[in-house]
Amino acid sequence: GYGVPSSLSAKVTGSFAYLTIRDRMPTILTKAVDTIHRNKNKFFEEHGEAGISAEKQAISLLSKLRNELQTDKPLLELMDGLSDTESWNQYMQRQQRQLGDQELVSWFKSPWLYVECYMYRRIQEAIWLNPPINNFDVFNEGKTQSFFESQQAVMALCTYLGDVQKSMEKLSENQLSEHFNKLLQVSLWGNKCDLSISAGQENSQKASPIDSLPSLQSFILVNDSNMVWLTLNSSRRPEGSGQKTADRVDIVLDNAGFELVTDLVLADFLVSSGLARHIHFHGKCFPWFVSDVTANDFQWTIRQTMAANHKWMSKSGYQWQSYLNEGIWSYHDHPFWTQPHEFCDMAADAPDLYATLQEADLVLFKGDLNYRKLTGDRAWGHTVDFCTALRGFEPAPLCSLRTLKANVQVGLQPGQGEKLSTQDPSWMTNGKYAVIQFHRPKLE
Ligand code: F6P
Ligand code: MG
Repeated sequence: GYGVPSSLSAKVTGSFAYLTIRDRMPTILTKAVDTIHRNKNKFFEEHGEAGISAEKQAISLLSKLRNELQTDKPLLELMDGLSDTESWNQYMQRQQRQLGDQELVSWFKSPWLYVECYMYRRIQEAIWLNPPINNFDVFNEGKTQSFFESQQAVMALCTYLGDVQKSMEKLSENQLSEHFNKLLQVSLWGNKCDLSISAGQENSQKASPIDSLPSLQSFILVNDSNMVWLTLNSSRRPEGSGQKTADRVDIVLDNAGFELVTDLVLADFLVSSGLARHIHFHGKCFPWFVSDVTANDFQWTIRQTMAANHKWMSKSGYQWQSYLNEGIWSYHDHPFWTQPHEFCDMAADAPDLYATLQEADLVLFKGDLNYRKLTGDRAWGHTVDFCTALRGFEPAPLCSLRTLKANVQVGLQPGQGEKLSTQDPSWMTNGKYAVIQFHRPKLE
């Protein structure tokens, strides 16, 4: 056999991992400090002097964290004694064993995936250790702002969904699969962090995310959407049950804002078209990677959609709330999603979550971070099979919907990666390219 390649890491000076840890992560910490500071008056109004001293204490912990990062100090154990603390500290020991006893696990020497996840857990520690502000989400403002900035695109998308639903009965198989492909691609491009297909920027109020799809088509490097379609139409139903379509589709969410709306619209389409009966959404237990969806973001987004002053948007919002009330949709979180593990560790380290995913007919993984965890964030060659990079992680048929924002990409054709590197040297990190990459377990 052949060895598993090494983890991406800041050890490689000048690499994207290196630049992220050197430049981007300290900026995120600085912004978190600014946000807490800007909310000082609010904390005072709500909690009096206790709010102010918690604010000061949280800021000092975050400044200390930034200093540890910038001076490449050894990573420290978590001190907050929460339910996941022990497993984080054990993971650190695991990393230390792999590094050997010559040096300590530190920011620039350890796997990028691990230290980046660790930073978000430490931000959370700084908040949790400081009641009464221990429920504060330092990233909340950015998430709500990104939702409001994409209102035009959200309205256009909900209107499109409403139109499809009006004619659903009369649609041919072909028309249904065309709508499916469009909404799958909208959910894919929803992962573009700059919200460029939403009407985020000026002069694009009329732009529908659906209309931008043809011009984005050639940027999809791997497109297995036909496999996804087939999976939905021929699920693992027992013989003679009479049901051809999927009983359950799981969506492992990524970002709040426009991307979440694209996921909800896709989920609504899957249910209202009869392609799926149930949708399980998976979100994060605490604020994560700036814009990831928490339970609070999920509920807030549906409430905002219901409250919109736009017929199709509010109709969608009410529909989504009733799916939740009826148990057709459900929201779940699990501590594993906010841990640093590669997904190939899930079966051993979070067997309950793995077993849950095994019940799904299809699991959609949204976004770049999920792709990094699917592939272990390792230096795989571009032509390595997706299946190989998954290293046995195959709870159910699964599909990654991801725009490229990190240096890992597998499953390309021979020469495809080289060609891209000459055309556009930053193709793996500039968010312009995307994949719809599918894998089905061998032993079904
Ligand atoms: O590019 C920076 C980065 O923080 C990556 O480290 C991470 O993989 C990605 O952005 C997050 O993107 P997404 O929200 O698509 O998971
Ligand atoms: Mg994210």
